[in-house]
Amino acid sequence: MTEKELQKLMDSMTLEEKVGQLVQCLAGQFISNEMEMTGPEGELLPKEELNRVMGSVLTFEDARQAKALQDQHLAADPKKIPLLLMLDVIHGLRTTYPIPLAMGCSFDEKLMTECADMARKESAACGVHVTFNPMVDTARDARWGRILETCSEDPLINGRMGAALVRATQREDLSNPENIACCVKHYAAYGAGEGGRDYNTVELSERILRETYLPAYKACLDAGARLVMPSFNSLNGIPSVANQWLMNDVLRREWGFEGVVISDYNAVGELVAHGVAENLRDAARMAMEAGCDIDMVMNAYYLHLANLVRDGEVREEAIDRAVMRVLRLKNELGLFENPYHGADEEKEKELYLCPAHREIARRAAEESAVLLKNDGILPLTDGTRKLALIGPFAEERHLVGFWSRPGAWKDAVTLPEGIRQLKPEIEITTARGCGADIGDTDESGIAAAADAARKADTVILALGEPEYDSGEGRSRAELTLPGPQMKLARAVLKANPRTAVVLFNGRPLVLTELAEIAPAILEMWYPGTEAGSAAARLLFGEANPCGKLSVSLARGAGQYPMAYNHPNTGRPKPEPDSQAFPFTSCYLDMTNRPLYSFGYGLSYTEFEYQALETDRDRMTPEETIRVRITVKNTGSRAGKETVQLYMRDRVASVVQPVQQLIDYKKIRLEPGETRTVEFEIREEQLRFWSFDCRHISEAGEFEISTGYADHLKLTKTFRLEK
Ligand code: BGC
Repeated sequence: MTEKELQKLMDSMTLEEKVGQLVQCLAGQFISNEMEMTGPEGELLPKEELNRVMGSVLTFEDARQAKALQDQHLAADPKKIPLLLMLDVIHGLRTTYPIPLAMGCSFDEKLMTECADMARKESAACGVHVTFNPMVDTARDARWGRILETCSEDPLINGRMGAALVRATQREDLSNPENIACCVKHYAAYGAGEGGRDYNTVELSERILRETYLPAYKACLDAGARLVMPSFNSLNGIPSVANQWLMNDVLRREWGFEGVVISDYNAVGELVAHGVAENLRDAARMAMEAGCDIDMVMNAYYLHLANLVRDGEVREEAIDRAVMRVLRLKNELGLFENPYHGADEEKEKELYLCPAHREIARRAAEESAVLLKNDGILPLTDGTRKLALIGPFAEERHLVGFWSRPGAWKDAVTLPEGIRQLKPEIEITTARGCGADIGDTDESGIAAAADAARKADTVILALGEPEYDSGEGRSRAELTLPGPQMKLARAVLKANPRTAVVLFNGRPLVLTELAEIAPAILEMWYPGTEAGSAAARLLFGEANPCGKLSVSLARGAGQYPMAYNHPNTGRPKPEPDSQAFPFTSCYLDMTNRPLYSFGYGLSYTEFEYQALETDRDRMTPEETIRVRITVKNTGSRAGKETVQLYMRDRVASVVQPVQQLIDYKKIRLEPGETRTVEFEIREEQLRFWSFDCRHISEAGEFEISTGYADHLKLTKTFRLEK
């Protein structure tokens, strides 16, 4: 349709019909399905009336349901305006790839592109028009269960990964039934909730908000994302969905966003619980005034918007603007001509879990695993014959993580399945040892597990966090391995020191004791469908670990929030860091450093950083500096290395981070191969948000280094001249 035709269509609509376009219902209200709800369903409203006017639905199962929902609606709607069908496709639809936090550890946008591409194909076949992805909330607190959904504590990685996902999902033309639209979330700073508690208050200066939290959302919008979802939290006193500064001033005016804003699940209704709206009617008015176009799930808009217009409290032009945005999106997706878009039962069968998709998922799982410790027992290449597979995750199939499809875990490959496929000659015994649930105290299986360990020549100890203990509404105050898992680890490691630990979890866990007693630890996160095959290939050396931590792993939960790029203080703790120095910024009972730093991760080969060279030692804002970092693979295997470039602004008018990642490149080197990686430093990369919130750079000295956070090397300085 042309813009004129859309306008004509809107002009022909009644006020109730227009409001309907701004209402989103749960598919489950119209069709029976097994999809999980993440909030209340809301009071039951007349279904027939809703079905006639509603503009969109969320959370349906498959192409069959997608078509049925559309048919049902179009049959009832005299204006024949197709529904928008939305779904949370976060890390794969049917073929699940690793959780976003793991993907962040791959430091690889190309890999993210491949994964997003396969998720796009499967989603389009399922009938999805919009995915509530990417989630790019910078998160620095592992107590927050949703840290699993973000790629990193660093906005650069979040922005790059998010933008890659948007490009691969929407591609050039949304009317192509193979493409779907992206909704960036949760705008803004949802990851900064106080105490790591989900949905909690966020208080941040505008300067820090702009420096650390906004850039990743902006990067996704620059990549073309068509929708934005405001976050549940209040930001400096105002819940995002009613935050006019955030939505009207920054998002719409400053950034020029013209797409659709959709509330999070019942976030409009929650304005009442927040205590900023007296009732649902008030809430509807406030969200509308802040430019929220669609009300997800609850009934604030449906029940009150039309009356608010009639009573002169909301201007009809505001409704019209929102409706036009929704209609434009439907039109861009080609829904007026083809309301099913890509929904296709045959294609679903063909694509879901097809070998090509499984192969991508397996590679992604391999490349996002992080080898945290290795005293030399990994890879298990020296003739393991009798293997004991021990621990609550030894035979676990729930390895896909939160935001996977109901039942997707059933398709996941377990560890023993992965190992048997790769090494059929190995004799495997298994012992669960104990459970992994929070509060589980049953230690009765530990003795038998230790016995199994003793009888084996090699042990793989699979520990972690139950799949549904990280994710939405899953905050934890303690971050140790839940249940009696540490007791099991002590007993097994005593019984057989030739034990490699494999971890399956969704958030950074506190591994301090484990790191002392275990000779090797491989962090797999929730790797998705190909969990067991990827883990087996890594453990037995068919694949070489190359993930680097995109989040800091603390020594104790008390260290959170924590980020590698924390600001300078006036009293930094002197080295050596292991001692307490009263009257400095430190803890008396723990060092400031994480157990494993951001950017860290081992390989089965060794990389030697030989040189960091720059082509000049001063630059003006118009000039660039070329940085050349030379790396050699000095080990005996091919491997991938992420070459990281850090910057420090020595003196600035506001306190600066002690280190800041400004670029990175992932390379693959054959044994003995040397490569020089080039970076270019531009003035924008030296900018920061000033006290009065201007994005500026200041003349002066800058340091650049490589290595990884807290372990920087080959430092060089240059000056920015103005
Ligand atoms: C979550 C969103 C999600 C939405 C729809 C909410 O509870 O916060 O991230 O997109 O539900 O499922």
